[in-house]
Amino acid sequence: MNPLSILFATSEMAPWVKTGGLGDVAAALPAALQAAGHDIRVLIPAYPALLRAFPEAQVIATIPALTPALPTARLLAAESAGLPILLLDCPELYERSGNPYLDAQGHDWPDNGLRFGLLSRVAALLGQASSPLDWRPDVVHTNDWQTALAPAWLHYEGGAASVVTVHNIAFQGCFEKTLLTDLGLPETAWRFDGVEYHDQLSFLKAGLQLASQISTVSPTYAREIQDELFGYALAPLLQHRSDDLRGILNGVDTDIWNPATDPALAQGYAANRLAAKRTNKAALQREMGLEEATDRPLFGVISRLTEQKGLDLLLTIADGIPHLPAQLALLGSGDKLMEAGFAALAKRFPGQVAVRLGFDEGLAHRIEAGADCFLMPSRFEPCGLNQMYSLRYGTPPLIRATGGLADTVIDVTEATLADKTANGFVLPDTTPHGLWQTMERVCQTWQDKKLWQRIQQNGMRCDFSWKHAAREYIALYRDAIAAQH
Ligand code: ADP
Ligand code: GLC
Repeated sequence: MNPLSILFATSEMAPWVKTGGLGDVAAALPAALQAAGHDIRVLIPAYPALLRAFPEAQVIATIPALTPALPTARLLAAESAGLPILLLDCPELYERSGNPYLDAQGHDWPDNGLRFGLLSRVAALLGQASSPLDWRPDVVHTNDWQTALAPAWLHYEGGAASVVTVHNIAFQGCFEKTLLTDLGLPETAWRFDGVEYHDQLSFLKAGLQLASQISTVSPTYAREIQDELFGYALAPLLQHRSDDLRGILNGVDTDIWNPATDPALAQGYAANRLAAKRTNKAALQREMGLEEATDRPLFGVISRLTEQKGLDLLLTIADGIPHLPAQLALLGSGDKLMEAGFAALAKRFPGQVAVRLGFDEGLAHRIEAGADCFLMPSRFEPCGLNQMYSLRYGTPPLIRATGGLADTVIDVTEATLADKTANGFVLPDTTPHGLWQTMERVCQTWQDKKLWQRIQQNGMRCDFSWKHAAREYIALYRDAIAAQH
């Protein structure tokens, strides 16, 4: 079949700008699609980190002010390991350091509607006849609310087929109606089956309503978001579009997340060389100021600290951890109350609980390698990458069966041990008590070294490479293109 031209529009891309899993996906999926023979370009704002990373980027087009509210912008062409990247350069909107969405106080930038409105507008423009580039994509692939408005222009004005991928339906990008004119959307788009959503302009709703095809990042989440509990008020729309909605499980970058070659680790290891994992545990204990105990499991957490991740459950029972007995190493940032709660916990239990508040890629790798069990009691989890990293690193995850966690982690039972699929621990419910009981179960299982090793090896054998997902995305793009005609 003929190769496709794809524009992949994103608001973050690892390693330069990453607040969560979208950054990892935006780095790995385009590369996997390119490796499969397709012509793909990534569009991303020229944040300072990207301008620093690509000082040789060439200006290839100027985009005049598309409305009185929008500044002029430029497109710069860069390349990372052969992957073409289009940087949307507009210093007024994007030249701000730190988190791409929040100011230094942790508040949304007040002009996020314009910032990601321009990104969406340009993503659409590149798929239209009026594009300033000669290159024209067959499909514009948008990701989360920040680019999900692009399908609106492609729908109302014509152009390439469009796809919206939901990485997290909890963030919907809702703004006042005035943004409609500021961004140059037609007044006719202000309809319940257009971009209007409870009297606001919702970027995500617009994409879900108007994109040619919709995907989300795991089969279970694709089902869950059609339920009001997970999909919020967007569930009815998703039910309505269920024929155009599919779940494609994320992969992991198996070069970056490879315990045998990971340069961040004290010592490399593999499924048949698991003894070296102990060196990493000792190194992590030293690095984080934990006692170098070998008689108790070390639980690891790497997370945004938000209600989504269920770590408030952990805080509720955390005083019991040293008595299990077990240790805890946590790296995270987010909710200030949760940050304070975990910082206080570490103070109460020096040597047994260590907490680092902030974002630290290297330490994230060392926790994956050094911990015995990875905690991810998420209330909802569209896909989740950390449980897959944990499985690869021989660090069985403890999860709640939701979204992509349910699609990747298989509870240890007699049956799953027998068929060699058991790779982690599943919570019975979303209560502190359920978490406590499951942590106790982990501690007991961990004492049986042979059994533990079988569970580790089952997880390490799982194949989460991007190859499968790339094939499914190509099928999705072809369906989106077919829906256009
Ligand atoms: P989400 O995107 O909802 O935050 P995922 O599990 O999909 O959850 O992806 C989170 C990604 O961000 C992982 O690569 C994880 O290692 C990383 N991450 C999260 N918090 C931190 C942190 N404080 N320091 C380093 N990496 C982090
Ligand atoms: C979101 C989700 C996470 C998912 C990631 C990448 O941030 O919360 O579950 O893995 O996007 O798709």
